[in-house]
Amino acid sequence: RGCPLIDSFGRQVRYLRLSVTDRCDLRCVYCLPAQARFLPRAAIPSLDELATLADVFIAAGIRRIRLTGGEPLVRRGVMTLVARLGALVAHGMLDELTLTTNGTQLARHADALAAAGVRRVNVSLDSLDPGRFAALTRGGDLDQVLAGIDAAQAAGLHVKLNTVALAGEIEHEIDRLIRFAHGRGMDLTLIEVMPLGETGTDRRHQHLPLSHFRAELGHRWTLTDLPDRTAGPARYVRIEETGGRLGFITPLSHNFCESCDRVRVSATGRLYTCLGHEGSVDLLPALRGGGAAAAEDVIRRALLLKPRGHDFVVDRHRVQGIGRHMAALGG
Ligand code: GTP
Ligand code: 5AD
Ligand code: SF4
Repeated sequence: RGCPLIDSFGRQVRYLRLSVTDRCDLRCVYCLPAQARFLPRAAIPSLDELATLADVFIAAGIRRIRLTGGEPLVRRGVMTLVARLGALVAHGMLDELTLTTNGTQLARHADALAAAGVRRVNVSLDSLDPGRFAALTRGGDLDQVLAGIDAAQAAGLHVKLNTVALAGEIEHEIDRLIRFAHGRGMDLTLIEVMPLGETGTDRRHQHLPLSHFRAELGHRWTLTDLPDRTAGPARYVRIEETGGRLGFITPLSHNFCESCDRVRVSATGRLYTCLGHEGSVDLLPALRGGGAAAAEDVIRRALLLKPRGHDFVVDRHRVQGIGRHMAALGG
């Protein structure tokens, strides 16, 4: 108890991604099938249990928590959890509390998030064209997300934009996204699409290796490599024309698993020590039966089984991914 969480490859885990719901009000084509089915409400941990789980992880050495989903802001009452975790930041028990959101509910919640102690939010945005946005999200309203971004910035939150680099889409969007993000002082990160869950779309056609795309961007923009200062998976460049930062998250073309510092808890209260593996353990029986100490034991034992890395493959010959959807685990 109290000692750092170190896995069998010597990586220290300090960062928890906590999914608070598998539900989402959008259906992004790379993330969910059109007819997504969600868990019954009774199957997901209560907000109290989530807060207790967070306490257990903090006792075990976790210093940063990111709330994810599905869409975290569609979970009823989620702001009480945010406030409770934010108080831990205020008391120095946690370095940072952040949120990854699709932005649709951000206009309503931005002020409360800032008041609770959240400083940064990551907003998913794949297109600045209303028609294309609606197609990619299967019905989403771009204006709602733009209003969310406005509200977040007005509340003083640092916003990072996440764009999944879909082949055939991103080429049309990227310049506009760069100007939009950097014009407003936001970082922009491109993410290689990962083969998670059946979505009714062909992963091979979606996949764009970002190493190639980056070279292509270099014909139009002056890109300067920035030193790897962030703990996260993105590698950043500065775009000299805008002065802003562009990140690349490349699990397929260049994996970053050797420096992985994170674990995840799913919307069902299961601990996943790697995004790219099916293996998980249920934390709720230990928590409910034996309390915090029992749950911490389960976490420490599971961490020793954290794999060296994922083994996603997408190329012309094969797609090797996993069955679980991103929305079940929050990315
Ligand atoms: P920070 O918490 O600030 O590091 O942000 P982040 O970029 O890690 O978080 P965000 O929720 O914005 O995730 C952006 C993308 O990175 C999502 O598609 C995640 O699935 C992906 N991602 C985050 N961590 C990992 C990881 O450990 N492995 C893989 N393969 N992808 C990851
Ligand atoms: N591959 C890569 N990124 C994905 N996301 C959702 N599904 C996938 C996938 N299959 C992204 C979302 C969001 C982040 C949490 O994960 O767009 O930005
Ligand atoms: Fe929802 Fe995010 Fe998945 Fe899109 S990527 S369907 S916004 S959980």
